[in-house]
Amino acid sequence: MSISLKLKHSMQQGSWIRKMFEDGILLKNKVGSENVYDLSLGNPIFEPPSKFMDLLKEFIEAPPIGLHRYMPNAGLDDTRSAIADSLNKETGLPFSKDDIVMTCGAGGALNVIIKTLLDPKDEVIVLAPYFAEYFFYIDNHAGECVVLEHDSDFLPNLSKLDGLVNEKTKIIIVNSPNNPSGVVYPRAILDQLGEKLKKLESKYGRDIFIVSDEPYRKIIYDGIGYEHIFSSHINSIVATSHSKDLGLAGERIGYIAVNPTHHNKRDLIDGLTFSNRILGFVNAPALMQYLIKHLQSETVNVKKYQENRDYLWSRLQEIGYEVVKPQGAFYMFPKSPISDDIKYVEELRENNVLVVPGSGFGSPGYFRISYCVDDHTLHGCIKGLDKVFRKNI
Ligand SMILES: Cc1ncc(COP(=O)(O)O)c(C=O)c1O
Repeated sequence: MSISLKLKHSMQQGSWIRKMFEDGILLKNKVGSENVYDLSLGNPIFEPPSKFMDLLKEFIEAPPIGLHRYMPNAGLDDTRSAIADSLNKETGLPFSKDDIVMTCGAGGALNVIIKTLLDPKDEVIVLAPYFAEYFFYIDNHAGECVVLEHDSDFLPNLSKLDGLVNEKTKIIIVNSPNNPSGVVYPRAILDQLGEKLKKLESKYGRDIFIVSDEPYRKIIYDGIGYEHIFSSHINSIVATSHSKDLGLAGERIGYIAVNPTHHNKRDLIDGLTFSNRILGFVNAPALMQYLIKHLQSETVNVKKYQENRDYLWSRLQEIGYEVVKPQGAFYMFPKSPISDDIKYVEELRENNVLVVPGSGFGSPGYFRISYCVDDHTLHGCIKGLDKVFRKNI
């Protein structure tokens, strides 16, 4: 065997979404793709905003000299300044370009942060239900992953936090709006988390960072405001991207923002910049950096995602599914009417509906539906969801 046993094992562990994807291809070949309702992926349905296309044309017609060359590993000064200005407006905090590192998406940002903070065997707490890639990202940098359970609203069960933290704990990853539940964490939860961590930091004599993974920050509904992490905990770092809010997932553009009030931020930023380089990212894609500096107040059509959410949530309620109403991202996480979510998802697949079992997100007994899909898929999936529900109650 040529690939490592460890990697082989990881591939088997992390194969849910891939399995659904592969099963979906087989099913589409068998029954015709128009008869398969694939709600398993979080791939943006929208093209980037028209301003992106206009800027792209301008660049092609008159590219700045040196556009395609290497640059400082943290990214272009102008882009980092534009992001800092935008964060100043959003948070009221004094961000400067020196608090920002441009990255290859949120996934790249998370790897850079974890690499920078962890010593071997340090522990990272993730909150169920979680984005499954966290396990691999943590393992990439020789860390250990520890899971904190959720309550019935998919908020972290903070009463269990003290029991999970020890002298090896270095990071807790927060993801709001959450993939897969769509839940947006309220201020009270973030503040409670910050207060608890402050006490635990003095108990164990080390910094414990909140890493806030926010690629869905601008995809929120019902006019609620986004609650930023920075005021809840001084040791906080944001990892985010424009994969979802500008529909640029394939372009791999994102950034890290360090809490501007952090006491040792120069050291932190130097470490992050170095990690960006030695992980082989070197710097975030140059062309995208030039473009997104002008797009900090743009988003794709969030209203349409909200309409999809409303449609799907109402239909699921009518059928009888138990489901928390999401306030952000483009996922819903209903309870499976039978405890075996894998079996339930299998039955849905037999009825041409593709979703992902909650087991893949550390929450068995649920399944994830992505409503980042076209209308044909959104409307067409209801029949199968209804039929399989009735069969199992
Ligand atoms: C919660 C979460 N974090 C990070 C990522 C990675 O985002 P990116 O494509 O910007 O690397 C995703 C992508 O789906 C995600 O859902």
